Amino acid sequence: MGQMETRILSTDPVGLTKAVGIWRGGGLVAFPTETVYGLGADARNGLAVASIFAAKGRPEFNPLIIHVADLVTAQKFAIFNETALALAEAFWPGPLSLVLPIAKDSGLSSLVSAGLDTVAVRVPAHPVAQSLLQAFGGAIAAPSANISGQISPTTAAHVVHGLNGVIDAIVDGGDCQVGLESTIVMPMSDQAYLLRPGGLPVEALQAALGQPLAQQQDGDKPLSPGQLAFHYAPMSELRLNQRAAPEQGLWLGFGRDCKGADLNLSASGDLTEAATNLFAYLRKLDSISGTMPNPLIVVAPVPDHGLGRAINDRLQRAAAPRN
Ligand code: TXA
Ligand code: MG
Repeated sequence: MGQMETRILSTDPVGLTKAVGIWRGGGLVAFPTETVYGLGADARNGLAVASIFAAKGRPEFNPLIIHVADLVTAQKFAIFNETALALAEAFWPGPLSLVLPIAKDSGLSSLVSAGLDTVAVRVPAHPVAQSLLQAFGGAIAAPSANISGQISPTTAAHVVHGLNGVIDAIVDGGDCQVGLESTIVMPMSDQAYLLRPGGLPVEALQAALGQPLAQQQDGDKPLSPGQLAFHYAPMSELRLNQRAAPEQGLWLGFGRDCKGADLNLSASGDLTEAATNLFAYLRKLDSISGTMPNPLIVVAPVPDHGLGRAINDRLQRAAAPRN
């Protein structure tokens, strides 16, 4: 892929208009959502969608999430059953993606769904994402704006770090508030499946549904092709559930009992704060430990409820053996 100049756009009306113009012309624009930065393109433009996969080095069997301004627009692209409607009404705009059958005449490029007959849809709450999607009017396909397999970006600088020179523009909307990707749910007629824990806690979904979410069993045909065990990887070796600093290496703490940690996800033990900090702190420690002879980051235990569940999911993937 040739080098191009990546423009940094501001969130004023001029910047937003330029971003939407680039989308209409088939280009790639990274933009802030409340979860992480997305790398967006017009979901109906096959060439534009193909260039997302090329820019990220993403395998084409891994489908993308489409982003729309509201539920009415979402219904042009996907078919909502009762459960899906209830979840959309309860949690949109917000960090929830729904995997639904593709609507007839959706016009979506088949690359978006990697040839599946379902599509993942989300209505982001971030005001900049909302302005962009309202102005664009259609669906923007957007994975996280990072090189495939690397840590998701929660600032515009993270996006520049990975994708400068290979995408057209980045809308700089500051730090992402949630800091973890959306929770992905597939609502079926009898029950709803959790495909990926994320920025909307499972407890909130279960309260709204009045029943537990179903989980994929080992041996089932995978509902979500993108859930590779090894993902979100830093360069350093990662060891989880460590209650003390390593002899050599860095310590990422959580909570009050981590005096001497190099960074602490939340000194007060707040999971929302920890989620916001997770990816940025992993990046920071990784860049420091990369200069050491044996790059190692150890991570304190994080409780496995609320947002902690998604934090632990990302940490386990980041720590999974490579190759
Ligand atoms: O918060 C987020 O979800 C961010 C922001 C940018 O919206 N996006 C994001 O996209 O995390 P990405 O590409 O990194 O993850 C999308 C996930 C993949 O694991 C993929 O397998 C799953 O969504 N997915 C997409 N379409 C699907 C489908 N039709 N069926 C099952 N899983 C699907
Ligand atoms: Mg991603």
